[in-house]
Amino acid sequence: MSTILLEQKDHIAELTINRPEELNALNRAVLHELSDILGKLEEDGGIRALILTGAGDRAFVAGADIEEMADMNRTEAEIFARFGNRVMRQLSSFSAPVIAAINGYALGGGFELALACDLRIASRKARFAFPETGLGITPGFGGTQRLPRLAGPMIALDLILTGRRITADEARELLIINEVTEAEDLMPRARETARIIASKAPCAIREAKRAIRQGMRITLDEGLVLEGTCFGRCFKTEDQKRAMRAFLDKEEPPAFTGE
Ligand code: COA
Repeated sequence: MSTILLEQKDHIAELTINRPEELNALNRAVLHELSDILGKLEEDGGIRALILTGAGDRAFVAGADIEEMADMNRTEAEIFARFGNRVMRQLSSFSAPVIAAINGYALGGGFELALACDLRIASRKARFAFPETGLGITPGFGGTQRLPRLAGPMIALDLILTGRRITADEARELLIINEVTEAEDLMPRARETARIIASKAPCAIREAKRAIRQGMRITLDEGLVLEGTCFGRCFKTEDQKRAMRAFLDKEEPPAFTGE
């Protein structure tokens, strides 16, 4: 059975982590399959927004697979963390925006998976935590790096050192997630957000994500240079020409083609 379900429609891809019996825990098979699918989607092109969620109604992802990790030695654990981080990186640098639709537990590696996405929408039933220190380990798929950059070191230290569980509302207050919905509204809201993004000029979306994502890793001055490059790239597209012409001609904006 496939550990990841993929549906594609109207330039939007929906990926569902499909191990509901194990609360979608991330084992090597899931990570490999996720990596392969992301690589293939990137290669095929045409995806303008991607939604990532978990199967069932209990968990987004309840962490890395504890059974698989239990007997790892130091080298195996390092390899596992580096591999997990490569997959998280594939998500964060995917050319189209990635929306995490968090439908339940987002613990440990599941929290980290959500943090690697661009936007996070959570059901009111979602619960977030880093239980790692209670299992004798640190987070290993980017949590110690992405959470402090997103919410500040004080919040990251609190959540990672204590392992305390927070609700979706608290995660929103801490600006760790974008939005909280009722459980039944989660996927409609994620799809609506994906549709809005997919309706914009693909080059503009791609370059905006690049400018923000890469810009966060460099100095402000370097980031402003990067922004100029990204801005300039948009002017190579027909979409930009058609959209600006339509505005000036007081016409409806065109449907963007990605050219
Ligand atoms: N790795 C491996 N298996 C996991 C898992 C994980 N991270 N999280 C849940 N599972 C499995 C459980 O072992 C159980 O399997 P079983 O039915 O074969 O016994 C199944 O998923 C259902 O989980 P269960 O613990 O019975 O459900 P619950 O409602 O009592 O508790 C959680 C739900 C999420 C609170 C609990 O499963 C949990 O604490 N999971 C581990 C979370 C964690 O520490 N993640 C970070 C790992 S670094």
